[in-house]
Amino acid sequence: VGREDAEYLLSLIRTIPGFPNENVLFRDFMPALADPRGLGILLKALQLALPVQRQDFDSVAGLEARGFLFGPALAASLGKGFIAMRKTGKLPPETISEEYTLEYGQESVEVETNAISSGERVLIVDDLIATGGSASAAAHLVEKCGGTVAGFSFVMELEGLDGRASLGTYPASALVTMP
Ligand code: ADE
Repeated sequence: VGREDAEYLLSLIRTIPGFPNENVLFRDFMPALADPRGLGILLKALQLALPVQRQDFDSVAGLEARGFLFGPALAASLGKGFIAMRKTGKLPPETISEEYTLEYGQESVEVETNAISSGERVLIVDDLIATGGSASAAAHLVEKCGGTVAGFSFVMELEGLDGRASLGTYPASALVTMP
């Protein structure tokens, strides 16, 4: 996307200091989703910034909850399917799960045991990389299911939390980097 579009998108990211606790500078991109032009730019930018070629992955996986906001839209625009990584206890079939630590708190995610076929190349999509806890949990889940991680696609990267280090050597892209 052009510079004007990039600036417009950036202007739609809201910062809330002290949420959900006093040590966090919360970055909120909901205004970008609510804005028709912002949403269009966001999805186009994600497509253009893919960390791997479109033909080098088979499906898109996203984490509940914010990975669900644009993961399926991105997958659809690329002609791929979407794999839901849900919070524990939500999926009726047999599942595989993984625990991780957030910038604030503890979480666990799971997928259906059969959601990913052997050797399937999965692009992991998430809204934001902070410490990289949820992204690396997602990568472990893909591998536990017999798939391979094609790369990571983020909307936002928070600096100074060393999130990239937890991603190993997988290719990753982020649209916006913020302190
Ligand atoms: N998730 C983890 N850290 C965050 C932050 N600072 N803002 C928004 N979402 C987050």
